Amino acid sequence: MELNFQDNKPFKVLIVGARSKTAEAITRILRTETAWKLILLSSGVSLEEHSEYISIYPTNYNDLKSTKEIFLREMPDVVVNTAAMTNVDGCELNRQEAWQANVQWVEFLLRMCKITDARLIHFSTDYVFDGLRGPYTETDVPNPINYYGRTKLAGENLCRLSNIPCAIIRTNVVYGVSSYEHTDFAQWTLAKLREGEKFNVVTDQFSNPTLTDDLGLVVYRIILKERGGIYNAAGGEWLNRYEFACKIAHTFQFSSDIIHPCVTDDIRQRAKRPLRGGLITLKAETDLGVKPATVESGLITLRQQILSLAESEKKR
Ligand SMILES: NC(=O)c1ccc[n+]([C@@H]2O[C@H](COP(=O)([O-])OP(=O)(O)OC[C@H]3O[C@@H](n4cnc5c(N)ncnc54)[C@H](OP(=O)(O)O)[C@@H]3O)[C@@H](O)[C@H]2O)c1
Repeated sequence: MELNFQDNKPFKVLIVGARSKTAEAITRILRTETAWKLILLSSGVSLEEHSEYISIYPTNYNDLKSTKEIFLREMPDVVVNTAAMTNVDGCELNRQEAWQANVQWVEFLLRMCKITDARLIHFSTDYVFDGLRGPYTETDVPNPINYYGRTKLAGENLCRLSNIPCAIIRTNVVYGVSSYEHTDFAQWTLAKLREGEKFNVVTDQFSNPTLTDDLGLVVYRIILKERGGIYNAAGGEWLNRYEFACKIAHTFQFSSDIIHPCVTDDIRQRAKRPLRGGLITLKAETDLGVKPATVESGLITLRQQILSLAESEKKR
């Protein structure tokens, strides 16, 4: 443990976008591994809740004044920003909202980190690349080809050019259990498989899908080791979306016969997609000791998590 605990004050981690599936996993891991105080900010809650180890605050991403008050009241040691407008086609359409969420919000958080003397851990994406020759390392040169990617690169650049200690975690095709029904590729595929109608999935978009638990572990280790700079955090297997969808069908015991292979040009997505995406995770593996889940083991974890979430909801 390299962290400085001063004056016996609790070490505080403030997590923004607390209802994102990534934040949910980070919260789960930090609550299991540490006795740190967690401060959760979310636009999806309406009431403050406080206990010894956790405080939850409603946040309006447009109301910077009251968010600043939360920062000044809590004085966090580390801020983790998972909040973003993540709908890639939506970003193409609602550019102002995308810029506000993915760039201006980051600028505001950097100001808050400066005032409270906190470190920032910020999430980004392989969509900062053009997808011509992925998977990418941390030092490859970005060249976004859609508006989401441009906003995320602008957010990264703000972090890199600030004099705040920052770590940027790039990830891709994130999947994991969510209490808030966030749609991701895995959840979308599961919904389609349950519907039972034939559906199209592309064979020419490549990535290494990432289990949220692995992101939680990367955040935990970055905090412990006080690391900065860019870290790729992604899954242990590089494959196309069609192959991923078939593996989802297999793990959840559906037939993959209704998954119809197609190419990106056939499905006319609004935003252009980087085709050969994905991220090389050697740095996180060697420096942080995080060995990412394979698709098979990640999907088994997802299945178990979905079952236990359903069980706990039944008991309520
Ligand atoms: N999903 C992926 O495949 C993927 C891939 C690469 C990188 N990433 C990055 O990883 C991070 C986490 O992604 P995720 O998939 O876990 O997120 P997510 O489940 O899509 O949730 C994003 C959260 O951001 C907040 N949010 C939504 N709209 C917003 C807006 N207009 N302005 C500000 N905040 C808004 C909401 O949090 P509250 O409801 O709590 O306010 C929302 O729950 C993001 O930075 C994303 O860019 C994700």
